[in-house]
Amino acid sequence: MSTAFGPGKVILLGEHGVVYGHPALAAPLCIGVTAQAVPHSHCEVELAEPSPSGATQLLKQAFEQVAELAGRPAVKVTLKSELPLSVGLGSSGALSVACAQVLLEAKHGRAADSATVGKLAFEMEKLFHGTPSGVDHTTSAEKALLYYRRTPGEDHGHFERLLVKSSLPLVVAICGARSGTKKTVAELRSRKEIWPQRYTRLFSEIGQLVEEGRAAIEAGDLKSLGDLMNVNHGLLSALGLSSAQLDSAVHQLRSAGALGAKLTGAGGDGGAVIGLFEDPEAAVETLKAAGVHCFVNRIPGVVS
Ligand code: PMV
Repeated sequence: MSTAFGPGKVILLGEHGVVYGHPALAAPLCIGVTAQAVPHSHCEVELAEPSPSGATQLLKQAFEQVAELAGRPAVKVTLKSELPLSVGLGSSGALSVACAQVLLEAKHGRAADSATVGKLAFEMEKLFHGTPSGVDHTTSAEKALLYYRRTPGEDHGHFERLLVKSSLPLVVAICGARSGTKKTVAELRSRKEIWPQRYTRLFSEIGQLVEEGRAAIEAGDLKSLGDLMNVNHGLLSALGLSSAQLDSAVHQLRSAGALGAKLTGAGGDGGAVIGLFEDPEAAVETLKAAGVHCFVNRIPGVVS
């Protein structure tokens, strides 16, 4: 029997810009998807808990693809997810990584390296997302805070692991299910086609925030990082990617003491927001008392 874990992810800065070749900063979550493989007559997948039938059908189709690429080891893979579906926490990327990792290990009898896992997971992720930048599954496969960039049209993105002076204390708040990333990205692309210069300018500005965010993280300047998150939320809002619900959650996090807060992931009519806090545990207590569904996620510091 073998087990693999694909963590969910949060995008600290740069979602959507990353689809157009700008960088993004993304970090793994402490929760994710676990895949367990046991010997079986043939290669198949099942969910530990029931899911909507459309989602299960798509999962089976995507699994078939990755199973084929992994050489169809004779195992039954059971998937268990702690991640809420379709809120921007990278559930499909996490699931793709967990499947790829467990199948490769079952086939070759040893753990595969993260690049090989990522490559396979990307084939699965494409079925869920259409034209993903690859930031979700790469963050999940690398299990590290990444500066990620992919030139549109290129097969794979490039990333650097960031060295963090001290941990990044985040609060993740879940606002509820939203439309799929595929639809939100496609609608944004249509708006960009109507007003190319304006939208290109906004995406470049988001890319610039990411560069400044990277410098802030490497310098351990949480205040600056918080401010960049606020500005990034404003730009995502300007791009039509926020909603009354997301804006309200962002304001609740700021009122609870966030150094900065923003939506994370594709956004749209629901999803999740993140806030950077000096004392995230106290903030979660306050927010939970106000009925906000949230949890603490510390991104561990790594010093060279
Ligand atoms: O699917 P989500 O909500 O985790 O968003 C992924 C991030 C986007 O930049 C919106 C899309 C992408 O492919 O990078």
